[in-house]
Amino acid sequence: MNKANHNHQAVLMSEVLTALNPQANHYYIDATFGRGGHSSAIMAAGGKVIAFDFDQESIDQAQERFKHEIARGQLILQRENFSKMQATLENLKKSMTIEVSGILFDFGTSTDQLMSTSRGFSFESTDEILDMRMDNRLGVRACDLLKLLDERQMASMFQDYGGEEQAKAIARKIVAKRKTDPQALDRVATLVEIIKQVKRFNQHSHLHPATKVFQALRMVVNDELSNIEAALPQALAILRNSQATHKRLVCIAFHEGEDRIVKTLFKQWESQGLGTMINKKAITASEEELRTNPRSRSAKLRALAL
Ligand SMILES: C[S@@+](CC[C@H](N)C(=O)[O-])C[C@H]1O[C@@H](n2cnc3c(N)ncnc32)[C@H](O)[C@@H]1O
Repeated sequence: MNKANHNHQAVLMSEVLTALNPQANHYYIDATFGRGGHSSAIMAAGGKVIAFDFDQESIDQAQERFKHEIARGQLILQRENFSKMQATLENLKKSMTIEVSGILFDFGTSTDQLMSTSRGFSFESTDEILDMRMDNRLGVRACDLLKLLDERQMASMFQDYGGEEQAKAIARKIVAKRKTDPQALDRVATLVEIIKQVKRFNQHSHLHPATKVFQALRMVVNDELSNIEAALPQALAILRNSQATHKRLVCIAFHEGEDRIVKTLFKQWESQGLGTMINKKAITASEEELRTNPRSRSAKLRALAL
């Protein structure tokens, strides 16, 4: 369920198409289907897509919106974590021949998820439960973390994943709150209030005071960096094992931690002769895209050719 008019707008669309170079009737894996913006463009070029998303809402929407593509076998949807990409593909290959020509990752959350009601991703949805799971099969919600972690662990999380300068003070106040009223920490409003109390004198930032803490919680709840570390070597192996020619691995990162993993692995693989980076520097959004899609501000695209 979405609040009106907050549909996800795919980032770096023409740059993705240039890097992936989709060909008619070739197979591409879209590891992060979301609203299917990038997948639609691959299919418009005649490509076939095997799409992963671990969010049931993304899959449900896709089943309706792309029913014709699914019916003609141009789109195969998998509700699965992309960290299980290789095993999932092997399973599909038992019933069909698939040679993968390219794999795309567009990390993080979609605008639909951020604006979705009752999932607690947004600091603006103050009356919601602080959940933040993209995959509702995961066991631990953001509010559970606020009750489980000790003060030091919580401060490290806010610092390491969000770059939050006031991480220690915020963690201290959360721990104090859970001693008096732990149930209150289930709600988005309580966390936002605590953060505002700590950060009330910082008028300089253009960011909402809760941005960094919310990002850190979302990344930890969904194990985002570990999933990327697990998936990228599988993506390389899938492409190396494929009989297709001119294969491409394309990643879009929005967070320094994500981009560091991609950059380190791509450099390592290039030095081992396993692929060539298409651009030495990450590709970022054009002036025009920056004007029309604020989400593109932090997007960094890196691509490997095999
Ligand atoms: C930024 S959005 C992708 C948007 C998409 N490229 C589009 O054009 O609509 C990221 C999507 O990836 C999904 N996702 C994130 N991590 C995932 C993971 N480890 N496994 C599967 N899906 C994941 C999220 O649920 C979300 O729908």
